[in-house]
Amino acid sequence: MAVCMGLVTRLPLCVQGRGRFFDSFHRHLSSPGTAILKREEPPTGSEEPGLPGNRKTFSEVQKERHEQAQRSILISCPKKVPEKRLLKHLCQHGEITNHFFFESFGIHAVIEYSKKESIASLQDSTFIPHGETEFPIPFKSRFFNINLKNPSNQISDGTLVQCSDQSSPSNVDLVEMLCNAESVEGQIITLMRILQVTEENIRLRYLTCSLIEDIAAAYFPACTVKPFGSSVNSFGKLGCDLDMFLDLDDIGKNSAAKTAGSFSMEYQVKNVSSERWATQKILSVIGECLDNFGPGCVSVQKILHARCPLVRFSHQASGFQCDLTANNRIALKSSELLYIYGTLDSRVRALAFSVRYWARQQALTSSIPGAWLTNFSLTIMVIFFLQKRSPPIIPSIDYLKNLAGAEDKCIIEGNDCTLVSNLDRIKPSLNTETLDILLCQFFEYFGNFAFNKNSINIRKGKEQNKPDSSPIYIQNPFEPTLNVSRNVNENQLERFVHLARESAWILQQEDKSQLSKSSSHPWGLAALLLPSGLNKSKAKKPGKGPTNETIRKLLESIKADSAKRSTATREKRTTQS
Ligand code: GTP
Ligand code: MG
Repeated sequence: MAVCMGLVTRLPLCVQGRGRFFDSFHRHLSSPGTAILKREEPPTGSEEPGLPGNRKTFSEVQKERHEQAQRSILISCPKKVPEKRLLKHLCQHGEITNHFFFESFGIHAVIEYSKKESIASLQDSTFIPHGETEFPIPFKSRFFNINLKNPSNQISDGTLVQCSDQSSPSNVDLVEMLCNAESVEGQIITLMRILQVTEENIRLRYLTCSLIEDIAAAYFPACTVKPFGSSVNSFGKLGCDLDMFLDLDDIGKNSAAKTAGSFSMEYQVKNVSSERWATQKILSVIGECLDNFGPGCVSVQKILHARCPLVRFSHQASGFQCDLTANNRIALKSSELLYIYGTLDSRVRALAFSVRYWARQQALTSSIPGAWLTNFSLTIMVIFFLQKRSPPIIPSIDYLKNLAGAEDKCIIEGNDCTLVSNLDRIKPSLNTETLDILLCQFFEYFGNFAFNKNSINIRKGKEQNKPDSSPIYIQNPFEPTLNVSRNVNENQLERFVHLARESAWILQQEDKSQLSKSSSHPWGLAALLLPSGLNKSKAKKPGKGPTNETIRKLLESIKADSAKRSTATREKRTTQS
């Protein structure tokens, strides 16, 4: 069995026990070629977004990840697990091509085999536990528990496993990291690299969908469960929700062709009076299944009367908050659209990460539904702004449609959703503006946008007359009669405009005065991430230096916080050793 593990390309992991700040900081500063930098590899495809040549299409990435997830398993492990022995044990069933550990209600491992058959072999040798007072529902999933038969003999084969981080740092840590960058552009890139979903996190997202697919397949054997939204559109931040789409379309696919001969055969099916009702019924039974039989699925809520019916639940082992929808192909297409824009030019994702994070810190967005802007709306605003640059940084949707081939044709519910899939057909932009200019200009642009009369239209790449009196009108990319930001009220729009102006002003002042970019003073992007009250006092006094009592106090609290954490980490290490 010595060689059965083959190439165990374990992804580089953060050093357990270190403060999160130093982990992320080190990750960012590592020189190319080190193991730690590898962790920053772009999350969606295999190439750095923005680099032309042989870029994978969205469907190719989805297909590859889906297949990878079907060869993977999730294991809940004991706290002190001997890694080498565990791998040796598991590779009795076949070659392992990848693995990593992470912490969420205990230690978990994701193991990827080179062949699906290995999982069947592992399942055959795994038993269903029978408690004395608890009765198991005998569902053989790909989520296992592994226990040490004799713990005291076995923990001596090396160090504790290293766990991959699945959460983003606190704002205080992030501000401190940004203060160490060389320029505002450096800050924008640092912020994206620290916050973006990691390679391991993406694998875990696809694996979670694949585990849910196994459960749904009990009813609909040919179904697929696909992730969409920020998990796959290249704008995902660590900790973002996991949007899933139950796709039943493949089930009916081949039937139309089988009409040769004198008879046509069709399935006996139950019919209901509307597609919406069918979706609600399907989600209702899948919701019951997840609640009753889904290992690790907790807090299942059926939200079937929403505009887009869904089942919301927590997948405890992966730590994801999941929203499962069905019959939601347009949202999947919107994810492809954002993926295309994110891949075309590296400035798109970088700017979107900064704007989205800024909006969250300024309480312009929220995880609770309400009258606020959403991340999706903000991303469309970033895309629109970049389309409007001279020369444009990215093209309009109409341009992407005109470059499409016959194979790309896509009509969903009567809407033309055609997009070119081969990104090498799109000419790179001649615009060379830097990210610091773009960030400042973004705030300036939307701080002065005529929201009262114009709508934002990324299909044309131009503003148009507003068709109704909503405070802000962002045309839905694929359903032109819908406003993506119809929920936003006047008050929230005013706050957005005010904060955008204030942020543009702060960036411009710093540009003029070339403040000393010391690590002890929030500057550039970091200054925009302070609660807005702190910047307000500064904004009202143009010409005066930005150092004021409030910022000084904030810095002191940042330092005290860091010191507290280092002490806590030291104490934790002492207790562990
Ligand atoms: P996060 O805030 O990081 O979760 O971003 P997200 O893009 O995943 O947003 P969210 O979870 O709210 O929605 C998931 C996906 O649904 C989005 O990426 C869009 O594709 C789609 N979506 C969200 N809101 C709207 C909307 O108002 N209209 C339309 N057409 N699609 C939407
Ligand atoms: Mg989402």
